[in-house]
Amino acid sequence: MFLSLLLGAAVVSAGPAPIARDSSSPAVSVSVTAPDDAGEPILRPFVSFSIELSSFPEFAGNLSQPNAFSNQLLDNLADLQGVKSYIRVGGSTQDLTLYDPNLETAINGTYLADVSADYPAFAFIGPSFFESYATWPGAKFSFGFNLGANGTVGRKNLIETASVACKALKGKLAYWELGNEPDLFTTTTPYTKRPPSWDESDYVAEWLSKTELIKRQMAKTCPKFATDAEYKYIAPSFAGLTDALDPLTTWQDGLDTDHDIKLNSMHNYIDGATSPGVTLQRTLMNHTKTVESVQQHVNLSKVLNEDGLTTGIPYILGETNSLYNEGKPGLSNSFGAALWGVDFNLYCASQSIRRTHMHQGTNYRYAAWQPIQTNDTTIGTKAPYYGNVMVAAMLGSGDSPSSANVQVVNLPLPDETEAAYAAYVDGKISRIAVINLQEYNYTVSDSSASRPSVTYEFLLSEVSSKSLSVQRLMANGSNAISGITWDGWSYNYELKGGAPVRLDNVTTGETISVDSKGLVQVKVPWSSGVILNV
Ligand SMILES: *[C@@H]1O[C@H](CO)[C@@H](O)[C@H](O)[C@H]1NC(C)=O
Ligand SMILES: *[C@@H]1O[C@H](CO)[C@@H](O)[C@H](O)[C@H]1NC(C)=O
Ligand SMILES: *[C@@H]1O[C@H](CO)[C@@H](O)[C@H](O)[C@H]1NC(C)=O
Ligand SMILES: *[C@@H]1O[C@H](CO)[C@@H](O)[C@H](O)[C@H]1NC(C)=O
Ligand SMILES: *[C@@H]1O[C@H](CO)[C@@H](O)[C@H](O)[C@H]1NC(C)=O
Ligand SMILES: *[C@@H]1O[C@H](CO)[C@@H](O)[C@H](O)[C@H]1NC(C)=O
Ligand SMILES: *[C@@H]1O[C@H](CO)[C@@H](O)[C@H](O)[C@H]1NC(C)=O
Ligand SMILES: *[C@@H]1O[C@H](CO)[C@@H](O)[C@H](O)[C@H]1NC(C)=O
Ligand SMILES: *[C@@H]1O[C@H](CO)[C@@H](O)[C@H](O)[C@H]1NC(C)=O
Repeated sequence: MFLSLLLGAAVVSAGPAPIARDSSSPAVSVSVTAPDDAGEPILRPFVSFSIELSSFPEFAGNLSQPNAFSNQLLDNLADLQGVKSYIRVGGSTQDLTLYDPNLETAINGTYLADVSADYPAFAFIGPSFFESYATWPGAKFSFGFNLGANGTVGRKNLIETASVACKALKGKLAYWELGNEPDLFTTTTPYTKRPPSWDESDYVAEWLSKTELIKRQMAKTCPKFATDAEYKYIAPSFAGLTDALDPLTTWQDGLDTDHDIKLNSMHNYIDGATSPGVTLQRTLMNHTKTVESVQQHVNLSKVLNEDGLTTGIPYILGETNSLYNEGKPGLSNSFGAALWGVDFNLYCASQSIRRTHMHQGTNYRYAAWQPIQTNDTTIGTKAPYYGNVMVAAMLGSGDSPSSANVQVVNLPLPDETEAAYAAYVDGKISRIAVINLQEYNYTVSDSSASRPSVTYEFLLSEVSSKSLSVQRLMANGSNAISGITWDGWSYNYELKGGAPVRLDNVTTGETISVDSKGLVQVKVPWSSGVILNV
C-alpha cells in the first residue's frame, strides 16, 4: 500500500523517519526567464577533470596503446554537454616530477610510505609521457609545470619541459599552470618545499620570474604560444583559503602583473578521507555542508572582484572532489557520493563558479573511473561518473547552439537532505533538477518495504508545455557501488567498454503533466536524482 502525506511543497511517502517539514511551505515557484540570482553563464565545458600527473599515462595510454575506454567516457560527456571535458594534468606529483630526456618509459616513480601509497614521492618523466596528450581526440589540456623544484635543478627542468610540452600541446592547449597548491609548500610534512619564511610576495616573485622564463623558452621553440594572446595560465591553484598563503594577499602582491592569468583557479574538498566523524549522510549527502564549502569561494571571489583584482577572470575549481587524501573506501566510491557530486557541481554553477575539474588518479577512491586493471581496483566506470553524466545533461544547451549561455539557479528547499536547481538556456527555462540526499542503505533496509520517496511540487506559471519528460539517476541505494543508471543508460566497462547501453530493466520514457495552473509534481525516491525537461 502506498501512503502519502500532503505537507505543502513536498509529500513524504511510506517510509520510516518522517522528514520534518513546514506544512505551510508552498510549491517552489520557478521563473520561466533567468532570475537575477542565477549564476553567471557557465564556461563550456563545465564538467572537466583533473588527472594526477603520475596517473596520466594510465588514464590516457600512449600512441601505440591509447586508452579507448577513457576516451569513450569523455565522449559520452561531450555528447551531453556539447564540448569534450578539459583535462588538467597535475596535482601533488606535478611538483614532484622532473623531466629526463633519456628515460625510455613514460614515467619512473618512486613511492615512499611516509608520503603516500597512492602516488610517487618523486618521479621522472620521459619523452613518451607526452604521447598521452595525443590519445583523446578533441580534448584540451592544462599542462602543470613544476614550481616545487627550486634552485638550478628547478630552472633547468622548466626550460626543458617548456619545449617538449609546447610541442605536444599544439592545438590542444587549454591553459598552462605553474605549481600545485603552493600555499602548502612550507607545511607539507615530512618534506617541505620551501622554508617557513616563504610568503605571498616570495611566491608571486617566483611565479612571475618562472612564467617569464617559460615564455622566453617557448618564444624559441614554439613562438605561436609565446604571444600575449596565447600565453595563458590558470592560477594560483591554492589548496584552500586559510593555509600559509592568503589568496587575497597573493593577488594584491601582483600575481597577475603580466596579465597572463585567464582563470582564477582554486581547489576544494568537502573534508578529509580520514577526518573523524566523516559519514555519507553527515558529510556528503548534506546540502548545508556543500553550501558552506562553496560559500568560502563565493566570498573570496566577491572581495577580489570588488577590489578589481580579478576583473574579467572567471573563478573555477581547478581541482576538486569529495574527501581529500584520494577519498574514503565505501563512501567516496558510492552512489551517495555521485549524488553529492551532482549537488556540489550544480550548486557551484549556481554561485558563478564557472567550471569544475573533478580530480582523480589510478586507484583513487573518489575516481569517476578506473582506467586500467590493478591489484587494488577493477577497471571500470565508477559511481561518481554517473553524477558527472547528470551534471552534463543538466548543463547542455539542448537544441540551441553550443555557444548558448547556460545559467543555473538554486531553488530553495527546506531540508539539508534535498536540493533543486533550474537551468536556463539563453535566459529561458530548460530543465529542473532535484536531488534527494536522504540516505537509503539498501543493505540494511527492509527489502519487503517499498523505498520511501518525497514528492516535490514546482509552479511553472507561464510555461506552455503540458507535459515534461523525466530522466532519473538511479541505483539500488546510496551505498551501491554498481548497478547505477542515468535515464536507463549504463556506461559500464563490462557492457560495451563504456559506450552507453540502454538497460531494459529500468523504467524510462516517463512523463509528468503540468496542470492548468502550471503545477507539476514529481516523486523522487530517497537517494536518487531527477531532471525534468521543460
Ligand atoms: C605504451 O603503453 C604500453 C602499455 O602500457 C607500454 O607497454 C609501452 O611500453 C608504451 N610505449 C611507450 C613508448 O612508452
Ligand atoms: C628510476 O628511478 C630510480 C630512483 O631515482 C633510479 O634508481 C632508477 O635507475 C630509475 N630507472 C630508470 C629506468 O631510469
Ligand atoms: C630549496 O628548498 C628547500 C626546502 O625548503 C631548501 O632547504 C633549499 O635551501 C632550497 N634551495 C634553494 C637553492 O633555494
Ligand atoms: C550537515 O552539515 C551542517 C553544516 O556542517 C551540520 O551543521 C549538520 O549537522 C550536518 N547534518 C548532519 C545530518 O550531520
Ligand atoms: C561568507 O560571507 C558571509 C557574509 O559576509 C558570511 O556571513 C559567511 O559566514 C561567509 N561564509 C564563509 C564560509 O566564509
Ligand atoms: C599484483 O599482484 C601480483 C600477484 O600477487 C604481484 O605479483 C604483483 O607484484 C602485484 N603488482 C603490484 C603493482 O603490486
Ligand atoms: C550500509 O549498511 C551496511 C550494513 O550495515 C554497512 O556495512 C555499510 O557500511 C553501510 N554503507 C554505508 C555507506 O553507510
Ligand atoms: C539491485 O536490486 C535488484 C533487485 O533486488 C537486484 O537484482 C540487483 O542484483 C541489485 N543490484 C546490485 C548492484 O546490488
Ligand atoms: C538490470 O540489468 C543489468 C544488466 O543485465 C543488471 O546488471 C542489473 O543488476 C539489473 N538491475 C536491476 C535493478 O535488476
